[in-house]
Amino acid sequence: MKLFLDSANLKEIEEAASWGAIDGVTTNPSLVAKENRDFIPLIQEICKLVNGPVSVETTTRDAAGMVEEGRSFATIHSNVVVKCPLTKEGLKATRLLSAERIRVNVTLCFSPSQALLAAKAGAYFVSPFIGRLDDTSTDGMALIRDIKTIYGNFRFSTQILVASVRHPLHVVEAAKIGADIATMPFSVLEALVKHPLTDIGLDRFLRDWEKLPAQAKQWKTTGRPMSDQPAKPTSLERVSS
Ligand code: E4P
Repeated sequence: MKLFLDSANLKEIEEAASWGAIDGVTTNPSLVAKENRDFIPLIQEICKLVNGPVSVETTTRDAAGMVEEGRSFATIHSNVVVKCPLTKEGLKATRLLSAERIRVNVTLCFSPSQALLAAKAGAYFVSPFIGRLDDTSTDGMALIRDIKTIYGNFRFSTQILVASVRHPLHVVEAAKIGADIATMPFSVLEALVKHPLTDIGLDRFLRDWEKLPAQAKQWKTTGRPMSDQPAKPTSLERVSS
């Protein structure tokens, strides 16, 4: 399963990339607006930091506008995937952009029927928003199961990109279902790493290590295998010399 960071913040992206943890990035207009930076240079910087798909969202309602933006975004960097909303106009734009081999992430998906249409339009990714469904007392993860079944039944190649992820259990459940990707905010990625028993265990190991005498703690090697190192004189040789 691939993990994407849902962020337009360069510090977060750089940090997550340094852990070897992320395979791509998703952005949306709200995340970009938070950064208060020029849009195109920001996307260029993100693409330099991540060796994988970077989703960039169109900001119009009509298909012609989305196609125009999408074509332009695709020239920013080869990592760019164009995001179109799951509306009739978004599907039209998806069909046209996909026909031009521009990868499209169909976003704002909230039902299995919408996901079916996204696949038929040629979407590269479909983004079901599970957290926003949970917020309305609807089981977001059930949507992932349904899409997985439908895409499996008809061997659609559209990848399921689980979005609006709010906590580590969302990621684990999505992985168990076999979703292709989960995209998450930095706080959730950090929470995936943390475990109190890891911290307690490490504290204990380091405390115990401190008990070893300084002489015994030497760890720098000579760079030669042990077998090549001169044998230490035996106690008998030391006595005779
Ligand atoms: C995904 O592409 C979206 O940017 C994102 O997951 C939305 O998440 P939210 O519901 O937390 O805003």
